[in-house]
Amino acid sequence: MLSRLVQTHPIEPRDEQFFCALVRERELFWANPKSLGLSKTDFDQQPFPQEDRTVAGANFRSLSELPSVCSALKKFAEDKGFHSNRSAMVYNPMSFMRWHTNSNAPGRRHYFTFTKGKAIFRWRHPVTGKIFDEIDRCGWTYRTFIISPTQPVWHTIWTEKVRLSFGFNSSVAAPMPIPEPAPLTADELRRAAYEADPIFFK
Ligand SMILES: [Fe+2]
Repeated sequence: MLSRLVQTHPIEPRDEQFFCALVRERELFWANPKSLGLSKTDFDQQPFPQEDRTVAGANFRSLSELPSVCSALKKFAEDKGFHSNRSAMVYNPMSFMRWHTNSNAPGRRHYFTFTKGKAIFRWRHPVTGKIFDEIDRCGWTYRTFIISPTQPVWHTIWTEKVRLSFGFNSSVAAPMPIPEPAPLTADELRRAAYEADPIFFK
């Protein structure tokens, strides 16, 4: 297994109940945004930025427009020991958030997301440059990673259906060095070789 800088965790039932109630009560706000018509191919073809881009600047609506959501997320953050709520985004169907780093907010990033369709959290290993795709679960997904200003984890997200994303930051209790990737397994080596030269392996 390659080392995982981005980790997906089981969401605590209490947290899932909190988010379910939060979004169910505001369904009129987020339930039917229009498709932006951006396919997975459009997502794959976006250029990789040459310079740091801390936020992607997407035109998505934010549930933070609702003061009651802001106060609920602030309280949730306090209860969890996070130091701030950073976002409460509504992704349109067939849309993506471009490559960005969030490197202006160092610490540990926590994302609680909800979608029922296919959604991809794509990230780049800051040491090797290797790109990984993490697939959202159907329903709620809880994902974390470390934001280091010197070794940023670039990431970009595509979604097929409406997707809600609640981002939080916490401090990293002790400096966590970014682990080097573990040696590749035999299967991963074969796959890498196949990807490099598929015809040879036919
Ligand atoms: Fe982000």
